[in-house]
Amino acid sequence: MAKGEWTKEHLIGLKGLSASEIIAILDLAEQYKPVAERKKPKVDTLTGKTVATLFFEPSTRTAISFGVAARLVSANVVGFSVSTSSTSKGETLVDTARNIEAMGLDVVVVRHTSPGAPHLLARSLDCSVVNAGDGANEHPTQALLDILTIRERLGRVRGLRVGIVGDITHSRVARSNLWGLRALGAEVVLVGPATMVPCDLAEPGVEITYNFDEVLPTLDVVNMLRIQKERLDENLFPSDREYTKLFGLTGQRLGKAKKNLLIMHPGPINRGVEITAEVADGPQSVILPQVTNGVAVRMAVLTLVHEARSRRNR
Ligand code: NCD
Repeated sequence: MAKGEWTKEHLIGLKGLSASEIIAILDLAEQYKPVAERKKPKVDTLTGKTVATLFFEPSTRTAISFGVAARLVSANVVGFSVSTSSTSKGETLVDTARNIEAMGLDVVVVRHTSPGAPHLLARSLDCSVVNAGDGANEHPTQALLDILTIRERLGRVRGLRVGIVGDITHSRVARSNLWGLRALGAEVVLVGPATMVPCDLAEPGVEITYNFDEVLPTLDVVNMLRIQKERLDENLFPSDREYTKLFGLTGQRLGKAKKNLLIMHPGPINRGVEITAEVADGPQSVILPQVTNGVAVRMAVLTLVHEARSRRNR
């Protein structure tokens, strides 16, 4: 798919995107990578346009990454986070967004605790909406940067076995990766305690297992998730120590994996729980390259959704 053939004005999730749509984003991100790495000057696809980053939930990486990406496509950026916003005074999400829209916005990037919030905004506002994480539903740009990193390091996605390990139930990263990886023909293995892997995600091409040691030698990639304690209302495993013993990626466990296993983590890392420091900082880890790819992916997404909307308005 050529850049001009992309038609979606919003990026709400990867569920339902075709392989060629996902590849269009990855290809453009690859083209923008030297800009993200500051080896080439910024591009001008959003010159004179304004991007608002609305974060109703804590974020470091994703919020900064979208801000940097927006500047590298020459947009003006306005940002706010919940602690400083009027939503803490009782204003509804749509009212907040409509007020910001009235100041002249072209793209809204939103992170919210409620699944569906970005979809609601897309229906209510006359600008492009990009989902930066909605509850436990989707986090499409995170999965795109994960998939870009896999493609870059291993040269393909189709046919690879990708393990997503940890608290799948509460993970929007897991869901978006699942839809994106399946669309591109990877096999996905969901690994975690039985209390944290929902059976309803099982389908052809998706395997569910509660035994990390058994499946680890068969994997080409592992994406280690954080236990999202802020989303748990009960203890779903006995202790951090027990979790690490069964599901943590330790140096010892890594000895059972393929020699070139690619190790990913969306961050923030809980060192010593889902991954040990030696593995997180080791040669197979691409945790920091993932972050750089995040800027390139977000530049591509902002460009594509904005250009699709401009073509309609022309
Ligand atoms: C993830 C998120 O917020 O969903 N982090 C991120 O965006 N880099 C995962 C997490 O919080 O564990």
